[in-house]
Amino acid sequence: PRVAVIVVAAGSGTRLGASAPKAFVGIDEHSILRHALGSVASAPSAQVVIVVPAGREGDARTEAEAAFGDRIDLVSVVTGGETRQRSVAAGLAALWADVECVLVHDAARALTPRAVFSRVIDEVMRSHVGVIPALPVVDTLKRVDGGVVAAAVDRSSLVAAQTPQGFPRETLTAAYAGAVDEHTDDAALFAAAGHRVVTVAGDDLAFKITTPADLDRARHLLERSRP
Ligand code: CTP
Ligand code: MG
Repeated sequence: PRVAVIVVAAGSGTRLGASAPKAFVGIDEHSILRHALGSVASAPSAQVVIVVPAGREGDARTEAEAAFGDRIDLVSVVTGGETRQRSVAAGLAALWADVECVLVHDAARALTPRAVFSRVIDEVMRSHVGVIPALPVVDTLKRVDGGVVAAAVDRSSLVAAQTPQGFPRETLTAAYAGAVDEHTDDAALFAAAGHRVVTVAGDDLAFKITTPADLDRARHLLERSRP
């Protein structure tokens, strides 16, 4: 089965507030993008499409060469769009003809373990539906209306969605072609087109680096994993 991974890295990182686009911010001596590509490179894929901000294509290729070595031929670099959804669409447009299964992954989930990729790929191949890694919600959630707590939310029926999210390629491409609204993630867009989405186990390490506190967390995790 031909698997492609689209790594979306074209965001600016407003909430992180660094001086460079988020994917190019260092965690340790390596950038967020480089760490993300390290885990993508350890997963079994036939093509990797990296979607980056305009002007960063050369930097992305340098990071990819470091992560993929002599497998660099499987990497394509494309320019992203104004929204994440447009960036994913740009990635989909660069897929090779024979790709059957596509995973869409946030570069910002830089420490995602290889096992998550494997679980998603295996489930797409087995069930031919959309697949998302998910974790149980640990916080107590409230629905509020103007600052007033309106209702309790039953946490048992909720999960937190992560990436990589996997899909049969043709179905995802058609769903994107027909999408009119902006959706929160690829699974939402896929489901809005009438397709089924199931979950596999996510991983705490697949958290998204969004704020400076998240970047600190990633730094500490990497420091602790050093010999
Ligand atoms: N992304 C993208 N193109 C965009 C917006 C986001 O490729 N126009 C990517 C980001 O690079 C990131 C992933 O989508 O890897 C998840 O988005 P998010 O964490 O929101 O990143 P940013 O949009 O960069 O951050 P912020 O919302 O704080 O500006
Ligand atoms: Mg964003």
